[in-house]
Amino acid sequence: FSMLQASRGTVKPSGNFNASADAEVLHKAMKGLGTDEGAILQLVTARSNAQRQEIKAAYKTLFGKDLIHDLKGELSGKFETLIVALMTPPISYDVTCLHDAIKGAGTNEKVLVEVLASRKPQQVKDIIAAYQKEYDRSLEADVCGDTSGHFQRLLVILLQASRQTGIQQELALFKAGEQKFGTDEQSFVTILGNRSTEHLRKVFDAYMKLSGYQIEESIQRETSGCLRDLLLAVVKCARSVPAYFAETLYKSMKGAGTDDNTLIRVMVTRSEVDMLDIRAEFRRLFACSLHSTIKVLTHTHTKCILCILLCIEIF
Ligand SMILES: *[C@@H]1O[C@H](CO)[C@@H](O)[C@H](O)[C@H]1NC(C)=O
Ligand SMILES: *[C@@H]1O[C@H](CO)[C@@H](O)[C@H](O)[C@H]1NC(C)=O
Repeated sequence: FSMLQASRGTVKPSGNFNASADAEVLHKAMKGLGTDEGAILQLVTARSNAQRQEIKAAYKTLFGKDLIHDLKGELSGKFETLIVALMTPPISYDVTCLHDAIKGAGTNEKVLVEVLASRKPQQVKDIIAAYQKEYDRSLEADVCGDTSGHFQRLLVILLQASRQTGIQQELALFKAGEQKFGTDEQSFVTILGNRSTEHLRKVFDAYMKLSGYQIEESIQRETSGCLRDLLLAVVKCARSVPAYFAETLYKSMKGAGTDDNTLIRVMVTRSEVDMLDIRAEFRRLFACSLHSTIKVLTHTHTKCILCILLCIEIF
């Protein structure tokens, strides 16, 4: 890896790494009565996801058992959710989240929106292939079975993962030239789902000049429900993925109850990708630090892990 590709994550690989030694530590932490949750927490958060996969393999070799299975047997609640999420390879984790969102009665649209609006085209392709392999089903068919209308249309376009590159000549998003969304939703959805992000940013600027409104304002005004959430997520990710996740984290923690599932999903999936940028965007957008916002949460273990994922020890 070149220096230019330096990760913007907060979780880094451990320099002094021995997968077998780590597997032994985890085995010891789970042996006998009671579980040393502190030891598990410290070790798992101090390794990169790739290293955790090596630990899983070493554990299998040394003890002939599946590490995730053993962890699930010893842990419970949000702590279990977090540790298992951290132990799962990124693409498999996305696949599991999407499958959970679709399966059974009802659909968790929030997960579909977040994952499909924010992942890069190659990641979407990998997710589709892994989903097919894991469940022997087509992700697109499953998504279509649970959704409808323009919401479904845009999800299907995002699943094509065929965004164009570069900037096209034609910038007019609204040929009619007025600020009303809804005159040509079909082409609106195609453009949002299939143009490059640099092209879209130019379109948003042109839209602002033409109508006097930010595109987000028009979407807010003219649409509703999960279509609105998806359109906004795609627009926000085209502008800035870290800013989108900073806002997602903020919303998951503000108000009465915390949306733990969203909080955990975002912290885990971004910890090695762009958490440094998310932290900066969070401070810029909400005038407080992500760390201080997480610190006031109540689940002790969950809070510990989330803070460590931010690279802030709170023991
Ligand atoms: C890794 O740890 C194992 C178990 O503690 C030990 O036997 C082995 O020598 C270590 N390997 C290296 C390269 O230090
Ligand atoms: C998206 O763009 C690609 C590349 O230009 C094209 O092949 C594909 O048909 C487009 N998809 C949709 C849904 O318009």
